[in-house]
Amino acid sequence: MIDMRSDTVSKPTPEMREAMAQAEVGDDVYGDDPTVNALEQSTAEILGKEDAIFMPTGTMANQVALRTHTESGDEVIADINAHLYRTEGGAPGALSGLMIRPIMGVNGIFTATEVDQAIRIPHRFMPNTVWPPTKLLCIENTHNGGGGTIWPIESIRDVAAAAHNHGLYTHLDGARLWHASVATGVPEAAYAANFDSVSVCFSKGLGAPMGSALAGKADFVRRARRFKQMFGGGFRQAGIVAAGSLYALEHHRKRLVEDHEKAKVFATGLKAIPTIDIDMSLVQTNIVRFRVLTITASEFVDRCYEKGLHMLPSGRDQVRAVMHLDLPMEEVEDGLSIIESVLK
Ligand SMILES: Cc1ncc(COP(=O)(O)O)c(C=O)c1O
Repeated sequence: MIDMRSDTVSKPTPEMREAMAQAEVGDDVYGDDPTVNALEQSTAEILGKEDAIFMPTGTMANQVALRTHTESGDEVIADINAHLYRTEGGAPGALSGLMIRPIMGVNGIFTATEVDQAIRIPHRFMPNTVWPPTKLLCIENTHNGGGGTIWPIESIRDVAAAAHNHGLYTHLDGARLWHASVATGVPEAAYAANFDSVSVCFSKGLGAPMGSALAGKADFVRRARRFKQMFGGGFRQAGIVAAGSLYALEHHRKRLVEDHEKAKVFATGLKAIPTIDIDMSLVQTNIVRFRVLTITASEFVDRCYEKGLHMLPSGRDQVRAVMHLDLPMEEVEDGLSIIESVLK
């Protein structure tokens, strides 16, 4: 089976498994797992933050960030297709009592003017006690729902400055921040400098079996540790998995260019098929989103699956394919042949 469902499907390499097997461990809830501590320090350094906290999942990292920045009843500004709003099981409402104020971004990207417009202006006849207090602005880079799109660093600076001018905190969902950095040459820390908190994932693209981190100022991370525990994230001898994440950080970041190259090859092949619609300008990293014009996305995905290609439907006519560590270029070409035969 050629598996293009997600970059989360990759398996740990033998070298990564070896690093995990040899990991020194302790009880992370008591703060004495040396491998977790080393991973947190490395991550904080890469992101230019004072501290970082190891988390089991990207969802937990995002949701702990939301909980740490806010109180129940607060409002959070995010793109309409933000992962932390659309695909985390309703967690902002369920776990933190938050309201999300969605912005209609273009492929996940919006402007400082839109942030300004989302901020309500109180008047003596309309006191600000009537509205949910707007506390936090979130962006996602790269943007999964937008097709792996990269936020230009200038836009990030403008949007974050607008949020800070309005007294908001800022959070970056950087599950695939590594991809943005590899594609643009802008270091992760340069993106992260605009945010009060940043979440990153080691299990997407970097090939670790699991693991994410949340970084920020020391005070923020201290408070976040409480909510990690509250949300059930105290995972004891977590050094076993932290070792996989450390290995991934050290060895698998640079190679992401190969996944970006595979995405370009795959997208170029799709573009040549008349019954497929694809916007090549959105193929910026390892995610390829396209539309099938003759059959539904569900039927298309089912028929490809029967022939050995696994992708995800993401709407009536939309399909997502993601390139990753365990997908050699030959499989990208074989995948295209399967699609051609299905749509013939
Ligand atoms: C942009 C983004 N943020 C967060 C997550 C959540 O990560 P996890 O699946 O580890 O909870 C994902 C998952 O794909 C994602 O794409």
